[in-house]
Amino acid sequence: MSSSTIEVNPYVRKIHEFPETILVPGEDGRFALFPQLRSDMPVVVEIGSGSGNHMIQYLTRMPRCQYFGYELRYKRLYRTAQKLAEAKQQGYVVQCFAQKMPEHFAPASIDTLIINFPDPWAKLKQRKNRIMAPQNLKIFHSLLKPGGVVEFKSDHHEYFLRARENLLDSGFAVEAYTLNLHGSAYSADNIITEFERMFLHKVPKRIGWLRARKVG
Ligand SMILES: C[S@@+](CC[C@H](N)C(=O)[O-])C[C@H]1O[C@@H](n2cnc3c(N)ncnc32)[C@H](O)[C@@H]1O
Repeated sequence: MSSSTIEVNPYVRKIHEFPETILVPGEDGRFALFPQLRSDMPVVVEIGSGSGNHMIQYLTRMPRCQYFGYELRYKRLYRTAQKLAEAKQQGYVVQCFAQKMPEHFAPASIDTLIINFPDPWAKLKQRKNRIMAPQNLKIFHSLLKPGGVVEFKSDHHEYFLRARENLLDSGFAVEAYTLNLHGSAYSADNIITEFERMFLHKVPKRIGWLRARKVG
């Protein structure tokens, strides 16, 4: 991290105000203090946790879980830690690319993976960068416990359909699925994220949602 980046973005420093919640890698990219997992509580990992709305609501519903959010943006990490503190909830946010999860979690150690509105990388040449690309689904499959689940939603229709195909080709069964989350029975249990709230207030967009279970 260069000194000019720190000057323009105050949150690069501010995230250190929450050392027990925001996990920040050292210069070598490693985490000195990654929490030890408990065996008596499910492990939930959200990729691209944004400013933490999903995390907070999920923990309100299910306080007895170990929740980790991977997020790259400093201000969003900081906001999440503030919200967790206000709500007196325990959770972690990890400041690094989610693709590094295998350095932090043992194989077959995660119960639930949540991916809400990932960057769509819409151009053909960019699609290899998608978080739901086959090389990442292989990682998710190895880290999930037998019977573990992936929950995914997106307003990008082509990405959503492609992700579903990729999951089916990667050892998952899609057990719940809708192309119009807010017009479906699944909306009753839906947690509205920051991005989703923006759509609801602007041009309404159809949101695809699915739950897939590891079978292979
Ligand atoms: C479009 S936003 C959605 C945020 C949130 N899930 C929501 O629905 O409001 C995508 C988020 O994913 C984060 N992100 C993108 N690629 C990531 C990666 N490889 N690992 C972790 N976070 C990532 C971005 O910083 C951004 O905050």
